[in-house]
Amino acid sequence: MADTGQEKKSDFRYATGDARVPWAAIGEHVWHEDLMGLVRLLVKPGGDEQAFQGAMTGVEEALQELCACGRPAAKLSLGDTVKALEEEVAAFLGCKYACFVTNATAGFQIAHQFADLGPGDEVILPAITFIATGIYPPLVGAKVIFADIDPRTVNMDPEDVARKVTDRTKVIMPVHIGGYPVDMDPIMEIAAERDITVIEDAAHAFGGRYKGRMTGTIGHFGSFSFHEVKNITAFGEGGIVCTDTQFGEYFNQARFCGVDMSRQIENWLYDVVALPTKTGGLQVPGNHSSTEIQAACLLGQLKRLEEIIRVRRERAEYLAERFESVPGLVPAPLNTDEIESTFHLYLLQVEPEVLGGDIREFKQRLTDKGVTNIPHFAPLYHFTLYKQLGYDTAAIAQSCPNAEDAFWHRFTHLPLYPLADEQVELMADLVIEAAEEMRAGR
Ligand SMILES: Cc1ncc(COP(=O)(O)O)c(C=O)c1O
Repeated sequence: MADTGQEKKSDFRYATGDARVPWAAIGEHVWHEDLMGLVRLLVKPGGDEQAFQGAMTGVEEALQELCACGRPAAKLSLGDTVKALEEEVAAFLGCKYACFVTNATAGFQIAHQFADLGPGDEVILPAITFIATGIYPPLVGAKVIFADIDPRTVNMDPEDVARKVTDRTKVIMPVHIGGYPVDMDPIMEIAAERDITVIEDAAHAFGGRYKGRMTGTIGHFGSFSFHEVKNITAFGEGGIVCTDTQFGEYFNQARFCGVDMSRQIENWLYDVVALPTKTGGLQVPGNHSSTEIQAACLLGQLKRLEEIIRVRRERAEYLAERFESVPGLVPAPLNTDEIESTFHLYLLQVEPEVLGGDIREFKQRLTDKGVTNIPHFAPLYHFTLYKQLGYDTAAIAQSCPNAEDAFWHRFTHLPLYPLADEQVELMADLVIEAAEEMRAGR
């Protein structure tokens, strides 16, 4: 059933018009069997195997019929669906440029390249985050400087950023941990004084707001994650990098090997260019291309985002209400007039001095009670990678006392969604029970 005469769009390789032997014929197309593979991957058998097989036969017949009267997608990478997604996201965020890439980490790389990050430069990021925030600087010989955290939110502390900024600081990366916005104004002030590029790690924060502005659009660049554990996903992986700066004009080249379709060299279809940087330098782009299938998934999930965040917010409010009056528990900060979180994670803190034990004991008790695999972020400098690169972990830890205290003694994250209401209630009961037992010394 191969249909090699099929038209592929949105790419110079497929713009062969009415050619009788189109260039697009060199790539395999999607067959209904492949679509069945996708259905099987995404919809696993439930309890009744026989009913499942019967339904799958129905799906297969329906797909065959669909493919007989329509055509399965031919254009699978960087096509019209990716473009439609980018337009929708830019409108949602109120920003000028949005570019759909493989993941948030790729977005950080692109943003760092426009900042002209290179050997000897420094990048300030919070001590507590996921490793993706701090992986690109060492790759190009730049140094990571760890800022301490604000103990209330475990987000980057702007005052410590001010203490650690130097003439070598080229980038500051605030991370909206758990979707709770960082206090961006003082960070933007520090950056403006020294012409530093601010790249928001908005991996958890798609749909959040800080003083009326969408998180991810306040710095010079922002990068969001649509990895499978996020509030919405692009079939498991995906990222969007956004900006209002003029570098957005080069996003397509930054994403795909510098290929510039608007220019051509002699006897060839396009040109390849380096990326211009903020400091007048040039950088060599990589390949971070994304697929139509991922974009279609994300366009679908976008429609549900508001509802997803509403459910998460209500659950966070419920947990706060349950924990508020329990001695030794510190509930997560909630929304205010200026702050709207995406409630990707629920930040629970304990007061060891009240409980008579710290978060390690508390987490063990929760695990014993069946609240397991609690997501948690360690200060990055404890990872072997940085030690291997010669970072002095002990000295850095000393310069981040709040991160140390929070990590060893005070904080963890609880999941909010997609749990059933009864699971959230049970989790609240067990958290309170663990606190009471610790206080009672049981
Ligand atoms: C704080 C933080 N930053 C960055 C990332 C990386 O996102 P991605 O996997 O889309 O590159 C993650 C992923 O979990 C994260 O938690």
